[in-house]
Amino acid sequence: MAAVLELVAGSYEQVVFGYRVKTDEHEWTAKADFTHHAHSASISAAAASERFVVTGSRDETIQLYDMKKRVEHGALLHHDGTITCLEFYGTSHLLSGGEDGLLCVWSTKKWECLKSIKAHKGHVTSLSVHPSGKIALSVGTDKTLRTWNLINGRSAFIKNIKQNAHIVRWSPDGSKYVVVADDKVNIYDLETASVTATVTNPKRISSIKFLNDSLLAVAGDDEIVRICEMGKEEFVCEFKAHETRVKAVDSFHMEDYCVLVTASNDGFIKMWKLHLKEELEPPTLLGEVNTTARLTCLAVWKPSSAPQIAEEPAAEATTSEELARELSKTKRVRISMEEVILEDESKPKKKKKDGGK
Ligand SMILES: *[C@@H]1O[C@H](CO)[C@@H](O)[C@H](O)[C@H]1NC(C)=O
Ligand SMILES: *[C@@H]1O[C@H](CO)[C@@H](O)[C@H](O)[C@H]1NC(C)=O
Repeated sequence: MAAVLELVAGSYEQVVFGYRVKTDEHEWTAKADFTHHAHSASISAAAASERFVVTGSRDETIQLYDMKKRVEHGALLHHDGTITCLEFYGTSHLLSGGEDGLLCVWSTKKWECLKSIKAHKGHVTSLSVHPSGKIALSVGTDKTLRTWNLINGRSAFIKNIKQNAHIVRWSPDGSKYVVVADDKVNIYDLETASVTATVTNPKRISSIKFLNDSLLAVAGDDEIVRICEMGKEEFVCEFKAHETRVKAVDSFHMEDYCVLVTASNDGFIKMWKLHLKEELEPPTLLGEVNTTARLTCLAVWKPSSAPQIAEEPAAEATTSEELARELSKTKRVRISMEEVILEDESKPKKKKKDGGK
């Protein structure tokens, strides 16, 4: 079945490329749809929601693109340094991190900065929102892993780690998370907040993506993409994806297979078909496009994916056990996270319960 699909890639050359993909049965073709030269320095991060694509840059701005109306939607100016990471939470919020050490929470309705948190002493290098929307993790150049209660914008707890990590990511079910430092993937258990296993990639890791709760695609400073299985803690599949190092990897699901998208310094964006079955076989190439630019980051805009909805706000969990307990309460209470985030911090003990709509 045909899907609405657009690949968006950022480059060192300050340009953002958009390619509309035609998903024919055997071969996918990517047709140039737009190029934006909205940034005045290299592009460092990209993310997509149901409607918007955002890009962050060394020029300290975040640019917005309304993919439905197909127009540039302005810039978010708040960071005082390179934007290092961008992540949407559902359709309601965007989180950004920067070299200024700030972690910002934006409303996607009016694009206001709802919270600006001094998150790390050095740079914020990566962030990840728990699938419940209650908490976020961040890592930075101060050798810490920090957990944020998104309801009140406060630090829930801080963990000192040995190295400066540059990627943090929750698994899709939120039961574990991985922290990447240099060439190592450390797998953490949510409940104990301790490392349960470590996987070492042959090269420094540039990008990772969970394909399901137990498979993690890992790309690094070589042309190979490897797939690691949690539990086995080893690479169960690998394939040569590009001619030079792979800078970004993303994925999405079609009816009965998974599509991996890779972007490289060699200028190519490639789409790979991978059947998620017991014995993984290397993926087959579905389509590719030569952007002719040195790509740095990638986002897949696929608006059919179901929007997520924020759930009940978390109590002020301060230990990992409390947090695990909080997060396991998966009630489908619909509370707009925006209202909750706007709660007055000066009256900390009053917790509003105005959900259940
Ligand atoms: C992920 O996909 C693999 C297929 O390769 C499957 O064996 C595994 O059970 C899946 N894991 C989960 C948690 O769904
Ligand atoms: C990609 O495009 C650039 C610029 O047109 C060209 O120089 C390069 O050879 C192309 N790469 C491949 C592998 O075709």
